[in-house]
Formats: sequence, C-alpha cells, structure tokens
Amino acid sequence: MGPKLTGGEFIVILTGAGISAESGLGTFRDKDGLWTRYDLAEVATPEGFARNPALVHEFYNARRANSREARPNPAHEALARLRRDWPGDVLIVTQNVDDLHERTEPAPPGGDGPSGLIHMHGRLEGALCAACGHRWPAPARMAPADPCPACAAAATRPDIVWFGEIPYHMDEIWFALRQADLFVSIGTSGTVYPAAAFAQDAGRAGAWCLEINAEASAVAEDFDAVLIGPASRKVPEWVEGLLAALSHPPG
Ligand code: OAD
Repeated sequence: MGPKLTGGEFIVILTGAGISAESGLGTFRDKDGLWTRYDLAEVATPEGFARNPALVHEFYNARRANSREARPNPAHEALARLRRDWPGDVLIVTQNVDDLHERTEPAPPGGDGPSGLIHMHGRLEGALCAACGHRWPAPARMAPADPCPACAAAATRPDIVWFGEIPYHMDEIWFALRQADLFVSIGTSGTVYPAAAFAQDAGRAGAWCLEINAEASAVAEDFDAVLIGPASRKVPEWVEGLLAALSHPPG
C-alpha cells in the first residue's frame, strides 16, 4: 500500500493518546476519557492554573504517577525499530506528555531526550518556572509552593502546553512537514489544532499521508489511506511491511 519506496524517504510521524492507550494510559475523548471526568478549563488552561494551582498540580501528579507505571507497548517499540532500521530520516512528533517513546530508546549522553522526537505539548517529566522560564526534571509530586531552583520564585508549573498556549517547536515541525515524503498519524482524534492540520500541511507539500487509528478521525479525509485498528497491532504490521518492501523490492 502506498507509494513506491527507496528507503531514502523522510518519514514524519504524529502520535496521540491512542498510541499509549494499550499501555494503560487513558485517552482524552474516548468513552471514560480524561475530558469526560475532568473539566478541561480547570486543569488544562493557564486561567485554571491561576485559579487553583493545587488542583492542577494534583491532576498532573496523578498522571505522572500513571505514566511512570506504564510500559511502552508494541506500537512504541515498532516506531523505535523503524527509527533504527529505516535508512532515511524519521521524526516523531508527539502530542503525548508521557515518555513512552523515549523509553524504547537508549538514553543519549547528556541527559537530553533522543533527537528526532518532539514533544509538542510538553512533558510530564518536566517542571517549568512561570516566572523565569527555567526548566528542570519534575519530581514525582509538585506543589504550588515549590521554589524554582534558579530564581526561587514559587511559580512552579508542569512543563505542559495548555489550551490557549502555543505548542513547542512549531517552526521545526512545519519545516519538517514541508520536507516529508511520508506523513503518518497514529492514535489521535484530529480535533486539536495545529496538530489536526498536519496531514493537510504535509499533503499539500507533496507527502503521502496515512492515518492509523481505532476509528476514522475527524480529519480522515485529509489522508491518502486509513488503517483502522488497535495501534499495538496495526503499527507493527505497517512497520514490518515498510521494512520488508525495502529488503524485497517489488520486481
Ligand atoms: P484523543 O483522546 O482526542 O483521541 C485519541 C484517539 O485515539 C481517538 O481517535 C481514538 O479512537 C484513538 N484510539 C483509542 N485507543 C486506540 C488504540 N488502542 N489504538 C489506536 N487508536 C486508538 O487524544 P489526542 O488526539 O491525542 O492536549 O488529543 C489531542 C490533545 O488533546 C492532547 O495532546 C491533549 C488533549 O487535550 C493537551 O492537553 C494540550
């Protein structure tokens, strides 16, 4: 399925909560999803944080604990294999704030995340000072009175992009979408922008676009093909097919 490949193609992959669902981390908008149980305006906006920082910290402390208990599933593992074995470049842009992608790869020296992985909505494992912008590794539990290690202000927040804020690394992402030969979206409902427009952006610039999701997303018509099913099965199948096509090019 899809275009004829030589191996030199640049693959950009967008992931969302659906890729971590089978690791036991809840999605946002499915039945029993986080946004059916919590008020998004109270826990995922700067205004909600200003009103009740303790509540917001509790919400993300709980999610951090869940994320630390979770393990990568075969979909994360398959993408790590693709990044290892695909001869061309592979960039993963994730909307997820868990660290399941990086836990499939050996940590690079220097304590940074692996290159080729962008957390556009931030990370549960990051703390950010709202006063001076300093960033440091998040402890298991954060609280409003925690002082910033750099400026001592009690303005600690999770390093998460909230509604009304601008996602991280957008220039780099848009540049990559314009260069991409293949764009693949995995486990995202296609309801939150700018990520929901990535298939349109990449497609207009010439990429072949594939969606892999449990159901057709809100933007499924922007893709050249849609694979419906659980990420833990569909992503390994897709990666296997891609790598097999390289080792056995069609006659
Ligand atoms: P959603 O909860 O909106 O969508 C998850 C998608 O994954 C749905 O389309 C499901 O059908 C699909 N899905 C569920 N289980 C799956 C499985 N096992 N395999 C494959 N697909 C599955 O989550 P996102 O699209 O990631 O932002 O949400 C986007 C953003 O909205 C999040 O990053 C977060 C949220 O509010 C912020 O908090 C800023």
